Amino acid sequence: MNYIKKYTLIVLTLIESTQQLHGSFNVTVLGTGYVGLVSGTCLAQIGHNVICADIDQDKINRISQGEIPIYETDLSDLVTQNMKKNRLHFSSNIPESIEKSDIIMIAVNTPSKENGQADLAALESAIASIAKHINNYKLIVIKSTVPIGTSNQIKILLDSLEITKSSFDLISNPEFLREGIALYDCLHPDRIVIGSTNKKATKIIKKLYKNLPEKTPIVVTDPTTSEAIKYASNTFLALKISFMNELANLCDATGAHASTIAYAMGLDKRISPEFLKPGPGFGGSCFPKDSFALVHMAKEHNVPFLTVQAALQANDFQKTVPLTKLKSLIGNLAGKKIAILGLAFKSNTDDVRYSPAIAIICALQQEGATIQTYDPQAMANMKKLYPQISYCSDSYEALTGVHAAIFLTDWSEFSALDLKKAGKLMFAKTVVDCRNILTPIDLIENGFEYQTIGNGGTKNNFFSYYFCPDLISRNVYR
Ligand SMILES: NC(=O)c1ccc[n+]([C@@H]2O[C@H](COP(=O)([O-])OP(=O)(O)OC[C@H]3O[C@@H](n4cnc5c(N)ncnc54)[C@H](O)[C@@H]3O)[C@@H](O)[C@H]2O)c1
Repeated sequence: MNYIKKYTLIVLTLIESTQQLHGSFNVTVLGTGYVGLVSGTCLAQIGHNVICADIDQDKINRISQGEIPIYETDLSDLVTQNMKKNRLHFSSNIPESIEKSDIIMIAVNTPSKENGQADLAALESAIASIAKHINNYKLIVIKSTVPIGTSNQIKILLDSLEITKSSFDLISNPEFLREGIALYDCLHPDRIVIGSTNKKATKIIKKLYKNLPEKTPIVVTDPTTSEAIKYASNTFLALKISFMNELANLCDATGAHASTIAYAMGLDKRISPEFLKPGPGFGGSCFPKDSFALVHMAKEHNVPFLTVQAALQANDFQKTVPLTKLKSLIGNLAGKKIAILGLAFKSNTDDVRYSPAIAIICALQQEGATIQTYDPQAMANMKKLYPQISYCSDSYEALTGVHAAIFLTDWSEFSALDLKKAGKLMFAKTVVDCRNILTPIDLIENGFEYQTIGNGGTKNNFFSYYFCPDLISRNVYR
């Protein structure tokens, strides 16, 4: 991660020096969550005047006082810098924020309903605000992930509300950033997708991104295809992870080694090495939610979408694997004290939405275990779901007196643990390493019993580590 951090900072400085050469827009981003806050900050960084607006007044007050409500590498510094330069503002006054800007970017939440369908209540309320407060030409940009066909429906709705045709254009511009590395992704996107059938709108949105530090491929298509691209990308990655998780389970049943397989597969350019790491299942706000939504859309249209359904089923199963491994090491869990290290759905974020940790904590409680947890950033969010479990101030406190520890995410501070010290604190030296972050030889030398996912299944198996370059360049597979 450090190389990305350094590189991002160098590039940000370069952008600073060149941005005055180009024109800037007044942009309002509606929704100041993971996507809205990061996108708004990046747009300010490349020279635009940005208002990040949100209906959550408390959130806006906190950010205005310098308290960033989410954890994202470098975000706090960049928000402060751009606020000082008077390019980045925060407001809960939605009408005024809409009136002041030429471009209104919608980045509100679109969570899953119980039946898997995307809940568009926040989007509809944002659109209603725009319709009410539009005072001159606006380019409305839908950045939220919305079901295929939504932009066209909203356009029809806005037209029916008699907003004159010249007063707005509406385009789709989905966001592909990854939490944990969101600023980098926002400033260095692999591609920009624009769903627009209007030349003026396309020209404006291209100009908005003109100051990005690198030449970025731009795909201009119709809004419906643009919305579909976002779902296709996320659900394909969900499929890839589920495939690797199932393969890893087969490796554990047969004695094969998933990390070596992933390395060899990844050398094939058609496959790429990304997203081939087995683990405790995918989570986060996007892959589960967007997979549910795609399956729901397919059902609505009587189109079978078995692959994504299977990826979701495989993911549910995968969340049970850590406890199966744990039981193979320590037997019955009733009355045992278990440490969980890593609560967010992955490292470098505080986001616990659909995190595998949620299912694992629930199952441990049902089995009668007590739980001690630690996560560098996600404890406050997990506390809202599980206030009654024990939250510790660091990994060593979480490990004190436990019968076993489960490592669920690959924070670098977990892989850097002093295992000798950890072993002395634990009641029993037992570990389930769901991310292959601990060095097997260190575990064995310090007297641990451990299980991993996809390394041949047997206890204390370190064969694959000798053959897998992944140990040396772990970040390749992030
Ligand atoms: N989180 C990600 O990694 C990611 C990546 C790409 C795309 N997306 C998509 O981007 C969208 C936003 O996701 P997020 O994770 O940032 O959500 P989030 O829940 O973190 O933030 C959404 C924000 O919108 C605000 N909001 C709701 N209704 C509003 C309204 N009418 N006006 C103004 N603000 C309003 C909420 O108060 C909240 O602060 C979703 O559609 C998501 O699928 C998310």
